[in-house]
Amino acid sequence: MSTTAIPVLKLENVKKRFGSFSAINGISETFMPGELICAIGPNGAGKSTLLNMICGTLPVSEGRILFADKVINGLAPEKIAALGIARKFQVPSVFESLSVAENLMLAGGSAMHDGKLEALIDKVHLRAERNVRGADLPHGRKQWLEIGMALAMKPKVLLLDEPTAGLSVDETRDTARFLRQLRGQVTVIVIEHDMAFVRELDARTIVLHHGAVIASGSFEDIESNETVRDVYLGRH
Ligand SMILES: Nc1ncnc2c1ncn2[C@@H]1O[C@H](COP(=O)(O)OP(=O)(O)OP(=O)(O)O)[C@@H](O)[C@H]1O
Ligand SMILES: [Mg+2]
Repeated sequence: MSTTAIPVLKLENVKKRFGSFSAINGISETFMPGELICAIGPNGAGKSTLLNMICGTLPVSEGRILFADKVINGLAPEKIAALGIARKFQVPSVFESLSVAENLMLAGGSAMHDGKLEALIDKVHLRAERNVRGADLPHGRKQWLEIGMALAMKPKVLLLDEPTAGLSVDETRDTARFLRQLRGQVTVIVIEHDMAFVRELDARTIVLHHGAVIASGSFEDIESNETVRDVYLGRH
């Protein structure tokens, strides 16, 4: 974690309307360098919409998004990515004919020398699959490779929308464990539904409901929060 307390990402009263429907109703949040954050909330709460506005694939209706001290809303998604905000989409998109190592090297470009590559392979738990082609990877390992490819670009902020969709119980737990180990290195905002994952992640957790943040705190705080129980955890 950086010792200078300058946020890497800031949302200032961010709103999103789709026609007359208000999907995000004014969210203000601050994210620190190296911080690990989990966003949860019922279906339709606005989680993906929020990530889409941060990475620029959806325009902001009102408010500001700042990366370091620069207002980034209104910039093209490629510009935002180039500034250091990486995003992993729900559907894996790896190069099928290339091995895990080759995919990571390609994503990292010239900065990806041998030592870095091997460290990254270990970071995303793909040591045993190092030389396996993308096409031959099971779904869960493809998800990890995609996270590795995003990390290879050395982002300041990594946005993950439901990275454990379709993963086994063991893979879900392992994903939480390696994301936890990224703490202090890169700011990670992860959207998840799986409560076992959220518990294992042990991160600051933000709860969205009807486009607003209704609670924020440790997983224990969230778990014991009455409002959260009513709107979300109570469903399970
Ligand atoms: N392009 C769009 N046009 C109109 N309405 C949209 C659009 N995208 C999202 N919405 C609406 O905005 C609300 C928030 O959607 P969003 O996808 O952000 O929810 P979510 O929290 O990611 O839900 P889930 O857990 O199901 O992924 C929903 O009511 C959704 O129907
Ligand atoms: Mg979503």
